[in-house]
Amino acid sequence: MNTKDLKVLISEEEIQAKIGELAAKLNEIYKDEEVYAICVLKGAVMFAVDLVKKLNMPVKMEFIRLSSYGSATTTSGKVNAVDIALPDLNGKNVMIIEDIVDTGLTAKFLIDFINLNFHTKSTVFCSLLDKKMTRKTDVSPDYYCFDIDDKFVVGYGLDYDGHYRNLPYIAYADHII
Ligand code: IMP
Repeated sequence: MNTKDLKVLISEEEIQAKIGELAAKLNEIYKDEEVYAICVLKGAVMFAVDLVKKLNMPVKMEFIRLSSYGSATTTSGKVNAVDIALPDLNGKNVMIIEDIVDTGLTAKFLIDFINLNFHTKSTVFCSLLDKKMTRKTDVSPDYYCFDIDDKFVVGYGLDYDGHYRNLPYIAYADHII
């Protein structure tokens, strides 16, 4: 895939505007309560950074690394916890920040992991993108910014074989869909 073959699906301006709307909603919900924002690396890095900058409550950021894709454009079906070290989240407000919910296997793995290991005060799942058509589990993000069709997308943290994470917008290429 070549950068010149990419078509913009969601512009930088649209992304930033939606993140602003989501942050306003979350600021209203949590008011001054502390939140543990858990960024799921690597894909959610851009979204998490831009979102937390717009949050007004006390925030502690944590980073975990899960993988399921390898270098292909379809999920392996197996979630690999590369690094899931977390502090004690008992009694805490937990905000999971993910790039995309596709099959939902990663989201389910993570929610089950949190529920099994901690009694949180609250847990919400925020995803930049929601690809509902390809869902294979019964999980859905509590909050998401954009609903997308069954397209393999890149940019703004999302990659194809490690490439394109640095694009400030979300894009797709016809021939790998
Ligand atoms: P799920 O477990 O199938 O929901 O997929 C979750 C992970 O797969 C995401 O966190 C992404 O890293 C990756 N993924 C799913 N769809 C795409 C895509 O369209 N582009 C890039 N990565 C994707």
